[in-house]
Amino acid sequence: MNVLLIGSGGREHALAWKLAQSPSVEKLWCAPGNPGIAEEAECVDLDAASNAAVLGFCRDHDVDLVVVGPEAPLVAGLADTLRVAGFAVFGPSAAAARLEGSKGFTKDFCARHAIPTAAYGRFNNAPKAKAYIRAMGAPIVVKADGLAAGKGVTVAMTVDEALVAVDDCFEGAFGSAGAEVVVEEFLAGEEASFFCLCDGETALPFGTAQDHKRVHDGDLGPNTGGMGAYSPAPVLDEDVLARVMDEIVRPTLAGMKAEGNPFSGVLYAGLMLTADGPRLIEYNVRFGDPECQVLMLRLASDLAPILLAAATGRLAGVKARWRDGYALTVVMAADGYPGTPVKGTPIGGVVKAEASGAKVFHAGTAMADGRLVAYGGRVLNVTAFGATAREARANAYAAIDCLAWPGGFCRRDIGWRAIERERLSV
Ligand code: AMP
Ligand code: GLY
Repeated sequence: MNVLLIGSGGREHALAWKLAQSPSVEKLWCAPGNPGIAEEAECVDLDAASNAAVLGFCRDHDVDLVVVGPEAPLVAGLADTLRVAGFAVFGPSAAAARLEGSKGFTKDFCARHAIPTAAYGRFNNAPKAKAYIRAMGAPIVVKADGLAAGKGVTVAMTVDEALVAVDDCFEGAFGSAGAEVVVEEFLAGEEASFFCLCDGETALPFGTAQDHKRVHDGDLGPNTGGMGAYSPAPVLDEDVLARVMDEIVRPTLAGMKAEGNPFSGVLYAGLMLTADGPRLIEYNVRFGDPECQVLMLRLASDLAPILLAAATGRLAGVKARWRDGYALTVVMAADGYPGTPVKGTPIGGVVKAEASGAKVFHAGTAMADGRLVAYGGRVLNVTAFGATAREARANAYAAIDCLAWPGGFCRRDIGWRAIERERLSV
């Protein structure tokens, strides 16, 4: 089949790498892609933010499957445009993508379908939001309703901090995403991510992961898009996953279908494992980045037929096979991240790092005068496999030590929770 992949980050490099290995994929394009993706696919210079441009490409090139990596085109209705024209798309409709695109929508949806999540209020003005915060007390969580590139959430330890976050939202810190605010109960527990492929009706469990959101070792410093991840997440054992499927995922698919917005694509559940059981923190409607990178390294099955089955309503009976062991990815970021990253610094040693057995996914790179340079905040995802989390981590850092990139940095403690768990269980 002919496949078009949309996106340009490390997640899309991992998807391209896996799709390129598929015997059923004859031709793989990626729009817009990046220098790493260019080794797996033909990068095409089309405006991926224009639904009409993507549709035109699909018509001209006999595309059999479109795989949409990031959330923005989904929220903007790319899957709808393509489906109406008869193309198979892996990714939800705009109406179903509201599970990520509007936190208020998701909270109300969970309330309608008794899906366990934090207690909340929705507000379109500051005084009411503040009154709710004063009544609830701290700690408390303030969220801009819409897509805010991972920056719209404040976990406030004091009432004052929460009040400032409300003002930030309504004063436009997150643009139109902050026109409405969700204030919610603080959930205490361990966080983990669970992925399911969906075809509107059936959910195929598709792996677990944990990431590290803070920029510095010891989970300190400002939030980022994720500085590293590993899969599986040991805390999501079979019993917990059975509960998550019964209490969260299946009611979500049934509820979306009943409301006329069947969900297809990947449902990424951000979970808090509280003393009272698993709670949904949020949904995303795409693979995590960098979580996708570790899932792709662990996946033993051919990815293309599974994504096509999800896109065409034929997931029932499909199974995915996984390698035993752990995959772990460490993000190499450009100096300055998560503030303004320094662009253009030359990167060496990728071939040597991969010769050590790791896979280096490109997240924010470019070619300049024939050299690979940094071109973003999160730049490389150095991803390795091991029989244990400890071994996977040692392999990832051994590869990192082969890189020659003075303009970049990484955390040195990715995987600490899983490794601590392994240490305690021997
Ligand atoms: P989000 O952007 O929705 O992924 O939220 C960012 C992070 O904020 C999550 O990964 C959690 O660590 C934290 N968070 C969000 N909601 C809550 C909550 N209700 N209680 C505790 N932490 C939360
Ligand atoms: N790594 C978190 C995310 O993709 O949202």
